[in-house]
Amino acid sequence: MPTIRKLFYSLPPAWRFLARRLYYLPTDLYEGLSGRRGPMTPPRGLIYTGSGDFRAQGEKMRQDLVELAGLQPHHRVLDVGSGIGRIAVPLTEYLDEQGSYEGFDVVEVGVRWCEKAITSHFPNFRFTYVSLDNDLYRSGGGSAADFRFPYPDEDFDVVVLTSVFTHMLPGEVANYLREIGRVLCPGGRCFATFFIWNEEAARLSRANPHFTFPYDRGHYRLMDEQVQAANVAYEEGYLRRELIEGAGLKVEQAHYGYWAGRKKERCKDFQDILVLSKPK
Ligand SMILES: C[S@@+](CC[C@H](N)C(=O)[O-])C[C@H]1O[C@@H](n2cnc3c(N)ncnc32)[C@H](O)[C@@H]1O
Repeated sequence: MPTIRKLFYSLPPAWRFLARRLYYLPTDLYEGLSGRRGPMTPPRGLIYTGSGDFRAQGEKMRQDLVELAGLQPHHRVLDVGSGIGRIAVPLTEYLDEQGSYEGFDVVEVGVRWCEKAITSHFPNFRFTYVSLDNDLYRSGGGSAADFRFPYPDEDFDVVVLTSVFTHMLPGEVANYLREIGRVLCPGGRCFATFFIWNEEAARLSRANPHFTFPYDRGHYRLMDEQVQAANVAYEEGYLRRELIEGAGLKVEQAHYGYWAGRKKERCKDFQDILVLSKPK
């Protein structure tokens, strides 16, 4: 693993947040004071969910949700691991007054920013902070392996998880998939991204030392031994049969990403995308 990433992961989560805040402070001050940052874009130092163009990435995710998961303006959407609103922001321009959005996340600062910037203008967009453990994003909290989503059965048409299962361990993923099966309406879909470990990924990965999963744990693999949630890849058969089908869901589509070294122009995204459905 490249040294900078390894060094970054070696910091406790609170220090990582602080390091990002300080690094971007001059840019954030400039963009804030000059009015170059719109009210629906968080300061760069708060975007703890990944690098790149926040608005363009969100817009691409919205398009993928429409194209692949059949999202429609009147749908009820659940965004698990809603982060700092990367998907919610573009959805404010897509969902109509019949549609609604719920997001939850384990990082409080992201949830609070979303409430202030989004819910205050779009009351059908709601965000919930849940105190669950994740060694990449925070310290302490309950276990995601037995967490019950705070929503009734069959409450959503579409559930989305972008870059969330890539930071969760098997017991947690199994529970979340069961919960998704519970809260989806019959015929509803789940759009989720993963790192899927199969023969092709293993072969390509050997030539791609910059992004790989050297720690073999049987059905899953870790990128970092110390920070287990840093990035997690799942063996494809186990993911499909034990985790997804075990939760009563069906894989409708698989779009493999370019993370392992596949040609970028042939892929939809960096991570692997699975579209799952709940039987009618
Ligand atoms: C890479 S970020 C992606 C955020 C958002 N989905 C996006 O695409 O912008 C991963 C997110 O998953 C959240 N997360 C990690 N474990 C979680 C859990 N058990 N339940 C809900 N969210 C979780 C993190 O706090 C973080 O916001």
